[in-house]
Amino acid sequence: MARPSTVFVCASCGGETLKWQGQCPACGEWNSLESRAAPHGGKPRTVRPVPLQATLGAAHAAERFGSGLSELDRVLGGGIVPGAVVLVGGEPGIGKSTLLLQVAAQVAAGGRPTLYASGEESVAQIASRAARLSLAAPALTLAAESALGGVLELAQAQAASLLIVDSIQTVQAEELASAAGSVGQLRECTQQLVRFAKGRGCAVLIVGHVTKDGAIAGPKLLEHLVDAVLYFQSEATSRHRIIRATKNRYGPAHQLGFFAMTGTGLKEVRNPAAIFLARGATPAAGSLVTVTREGGRPLLIELQGLVDRMRFGAPRRVAQGLDANRLAMLLAAAHRHAGLALQEHDVFVNVVGGIEIAETAWDLPVILALASSLEDRPLPPGAVAFGEVGLTGEVRPVPYGEERLHEAAAQGFRTAILPKDNAPRRAPDSLTLLPVTQVAEALQAARRLGV
Ligand code: TYD
Ligand code: MG
Repeated sequence: MARPSTVFVCASCGGETLKWQGQCPACGEWNSLESRAAPHGGKPRTVRPVPLQATLGAAHAAERFGSGLSELDRVLGGGIVPGAVVLVGGEPGIGKSTLLLQVAAQVAAGGRPTLYASGEESVAQIASRAARLSLAAPALTLAAESALGGVLELAQAQAASLLIVDSIQTVQAEELASAAGSVGQLRECTQQLVRFAKGRGCAVLIVGHVTKDGAIAGPKLLEHLVDAVLYFQSEATSRHRIIRATKNRYGPAHQLGFFAMTGTGLKEVRNPAAIFLARGATPAAGSLVTVTREGGRPLLIELQGLVDRMRFGAPRRVAQGLDANRLAMLLAAAHRHAGLALQEHDVFVNVVGGIEIAETAWDLPVILALASSLEDRPLPPGAVAFGEVGLTGEVRPVPYGEERLHEAAAQGFRTAILPKDNAPRRAPDSLTLLPVTQVAEALQAARRLGV
């Protein structure tokens, strides 16, 4: 069958149809279909098979290169992979442009042709940021360009090893009539960038803005098109920035990288174990420190629980940085197996520092923090806790128990409430261990410590 030479692409959802219609069959939007040339100009695709053996040399040649920031290399799984496309998402003003300009300068200084293309700022604005960051990179090329075709031409002309596109919401593929930032444009531009990256072995870092309320309509759509997705996070009042890999085709996902925003750009925080410990000198009810292994290394993080007598309707369960469903399960387990009655209370839990904890080691400390709030009895500031809690009220071990204890001791903590199966034969000398097997036992241990 002859292939059509045009297809119709929906400017709203990016869906394709072969015939023009008034309504997009994929998303139901009216008058959103635009004609464009079919890929391959209607000719049948000719793909030549390649023996695996012949590709092995090429795969080996694709050595990673450093971004100049070891915390970023860590999140990427050991550096930038040639030909990889990485989406860097985050709220406006969090530091995406700052980070990528620093990376661009360092990669260029290392002798790799690099193009920083911005549809957001003029060359003068980028240059003034570079001056603020004291970046001396004579080999770095800047372009204020929002036409994607133009960006790709420039990158091709200089045989770039690294292309930075800041941001995907401001570039436009000329083939589509829709405005920059529309769903159709976001998708088309990303697809073209992916093709360019794979065809030329050029690594591409794409900035994607994420809006405040977490509506990540734009970048979310692109996640499956790219090789890796990094998200910038921070807490409003903090100068610390966390970069999390939520997807990584070339390395472990869920790694975390830590930075601090300073007057002269983003600086790496190489030993982040205690950066989230901003506890006041006086112990407060409802606060407890846990040792998490989030992001691949031990971190001491303060958990805050607040229980308050419910005013009306159904009790509220709000979790910031933790899974709310798991919180509901823990409340049930703590009620049934340790008599912690919170059915008449609103429950709020917060992870200080704007970090998200996905592992289960926060189970036990959250229950202890909520009990401390309910009973209005602070725990001593030198106490930490970690452990998973099961539906039968048992406290289960978590991976890397010894490593967590050593980090707690290194940061000056004196007491640890932990799963019995995590208690090592030899604990750090300065640390008193309180191993427990049941939630009720853990609550008793915490009450004995209470100040
Ligand atoms: P920016 O990288 O422009 O954010 P994004 O690209 O994610 O929108 O960062 C902007 C903020 O960072 C701005 O509030 C100023 C601040 N900043 C510093 O504190 N120090 C610096 O060296 C730079 C360049 C920016
Ligand atoms: Mg920016």
